Amino acid sequence: MYTGPVPNLAGIDVGTSACKAVLMDERGKLLARASRSYGMSTPAPGWAEQDPEEWVRAAQGCLAELALTPDAIAFTGQMHGGVFLDDALNVIRPALLWCDQRTEQECADLSSIAGIEEISLNRVSPGFQAPSVLWLRNHEPASFARLRHVLFPKDFVQLRLGGPLTTEATDASGSGLFNTKARTWSEDLLQAVGLDQTLFPTCHEPGERLSDVGPVLVAGAGDQPAGAVGVGATRPGRVALSLGTSGVALAALDEPPQGAHPAVNCFCHADGGWLRLGVMLGCGGSLAWARRAFWPGADFREIAELAETASWTEHGPVFLPYVSGERCPVVAPGATASLLGLRASHEPSDLALSVFTGVTCGLMDCYDLVGGSAGELYLTGGGSSSPFWCQLIADASGATCLVPEVDEGPAMGAALLAGVGLGVWPDAHSAATATIRVAQEFRPSGRDFGPLRTRFAACRSVSLGPD
Ligand code: XUL
Repeated sequence: MYTGPVPNLAGIDVGTSACKAVLMDERGKLLARASRSYGMSTPAPGWAEQDPEEWVRAAQGCLAELALTPDAIAFTGQMHGGVFLDDALNVIRPALLWCDQRTEQECADLSSIAGIEEISLNRVSPGFQAPSVLWLRNHEPASFARLRHVLFPKDFVQLRLGGPLTTEATDASGSGLFNTKARTWSEDLLQAVGLDQTLFPTCHEPGERLSDVGPVLVAGAGDQPAGAVGVGATRPGRVALSLGTSGVALAALDEPPQGAHPAVNCFCHADGGWLRLGVMLGCGGSLAWARRAFWPGADFREIAELAETASWTEHGPVFLPYVSGERCPVVAPGATASLLGLRASHEPSDLALSVFTGVTCGLMDCYDLVGGSAGELYLTGGGSSSPFWCQLIADASGATCLVPEVDEGPAMGAALLAGVGLGVWPDAHSAATATIRVAQEFRPSGRDFGPLRTRFAACRSVSLGPD
């Protein structure tokens, strides 16, 4: 148990579009925050890469800006990606990210391994680390010959900032090579794909203390499990929706499921349990695309204000939000977005509304599949700062939507895990219970989303195939 002075707990989130750092105390009070954004490169359609050293520069910049020295630090970040290192720990090539869609063939190869879904509790999707490593072996043999270590993005930044070469169970369970029930790398799967176990780092549990030199370094968690901690979705019964570049419906589980669902993921949770997730790939990503295409220079608040001026009708245009392919309700890496049902009478405001309703319907597809029927739904991520969007989600789900007072998403969850490692709280659930307070509530307004969801489902088959 921690008995020192008021602790400064740092959470660093190596996200897809930016690195963000927060510093909070043991009451969940935000002491400081910083962020540094970076780009993503798309060298071919469907590819998504980043330079891992750029994450490191961004994280260093954030830590410098926090000004206060943390007592404990934990990392979180975009999951699944592969950072490829040689024996001198140099980066061999840009990292393949979670949203990279080039590995359809490797996923098919992995899926043919007997027992893989029962062991990993996931159907391997493009963007997972295992198919990315196999892609390197198949397409860049010279790079593969130099490969000695494969890391997840946050673990690479942790390494560069002086930490050990490690990972933890939540990220590892999103690789495709992990025994998610037993919470260890699967020797059987590694052998079946012909990859040496030494390529993959030692695996810890989130909240474990990793080193005491300088600020205490604590094992963090992938952005979804950390985000779930950050909104208190640590135990069954609390369902959360994260509105980021990707949109995620998540629900905590006490027991691992028996097998894999074709489009719903099951990862280790940061609290010893498991997490069921439905991930739509183009949530904020669809809004960002629409802004670029239709309203360059506008900010998201202005687009939401435009959407708010449209009259609500179930006959409006239908936007299918598959700008990055899709992972849930169907794994469809080749899916594309569409705008259907346009008429000469439609105004820009109708288009703006259709983008929001289309993304919301996509989120509801994920929510239904993770078992969404909770009376309360916690909203987190950048999108939860839009009251307009939160209200749409309350109407579409029929649940009261709650937005936490400090919504720092995964970075907040990582800071709480840092506190667990420091001994401030015994576990992530106690950390969340002690710190999270609700700031805003959105109750269903009675607006009927049913007919719109029915039209959306009918149009969805155009992009994703029939239900
Ligand atoms: C989770 C997932 C994304 C990434 C990026 O399975 O793919 O949420 O972690 O945020």
